[in-house]
Amino acid sequence: MQIFREIKPLRAFLVEKWRAGQKLGFVPTMGALHQGHLTLIAASRAGHPFTVCSVFVNPTQFNNAEDFARYPRNLERDVEMLERAGCDVLFCPEEAEMHSDSQYLKFDFGHLDKVMEGKFRPGHFSGVAQVVSKLFHIVQPDTAYFGQKDWQQFVIIRTLVNELKFNVKLQAVETVREPDGLAMSSRNERLLEAHRKEATVLSRCLKDAREQLLHGKSVEDVKKNVLDSFNQSEAVKLEYFEVVNTENLTPIKSVGDADRAILCMAAYVGGVRLIDNMFV
Ligand code: PAJ
Repeated sequence: MQIFREIKPLRAFLVEKWRAGQKLGFVPTMGALHQGHLTLIAASRAGHPFTVCSVFVNPTQFNNAEDFARYPRNLERDVEMLERAGCDVLFCPEEAEMHSDSQYLKFDFGHLDKVMEGKFRPGHFSGVAQVVSKLFHIVQPDTAYFGQKDWQQFVIIRTLVNELKFNVKLQAVETVREPDGLAMSSRNERLLEAHRKEATVLSRCLKDAREQLLHGKSVEDVKKNVLDSFNQSEAVKLEYFEVVNTENLTPIKSVGDADRAILCMAAYVGGVRLIDNMFV
């Protein structure tokens, strides 16, 4: 695997691939890699002769300085995992390489970035759109792979690509879970042993809520049940639980509607913020 820390040599290397018409698959990440990320690499390798992965803990998408400081970082381990997964190129820039001191450009996605994650993490999606735009310009992939776990992020990046006419196909990959249902996340590393079991409350609630909705329970009642489940333990705290249209993220009143629905939630488990979702 070739490793690049700077844009210029990476471009000089990739220009040969672009010229030869070799299709590139791209997997952007913030590192602290786990099986979820490796599944994206595998999907890219299955569809492309050449896979590029980026590892960059992007400061502009953290609305909380402490969260940024505490975000797990382990580049050495990431490199080993990517080598073993058969990734061809790793781009892992320093902050100064990606962002200049001035950050004038902001993104506004209307209501798409005002709900759920956007509501509780103001500015988060502007930072995501900013860095993903830069990465797309630098790598110029044929296809970029993203996880369903961050569904709102996927919807926003799709909007970015459509509206700015990026010549990039997007592929969403199903969420990879631990055997007990917990969605894999770099943030799981920060869970204390005592809280690890409690973290299954997210996926359990999503599964139960899905069943209840399919059996005709109202969204309002299901929301109450989810909140009740969270009230059983001091260690967990629900931030939001929403039933929304998968495509435009507007609230869904009843699952009988023709629209496809997705259940989305964020919660704190022993102070660690986790998100999860499930299609109905
Ligand atoms: P990060 O949280 O590192 O996630 C990188 C990619 O892995 C995202 O597309 C995410 O949805 C996917 N992913 C995370 N957990 C997953 C799981 N359990 N199963 C399947 N896929 C999973 O998302 C980001 O980084 C950043 O916002 C980024 C897009 C890189 C921009 O900085």
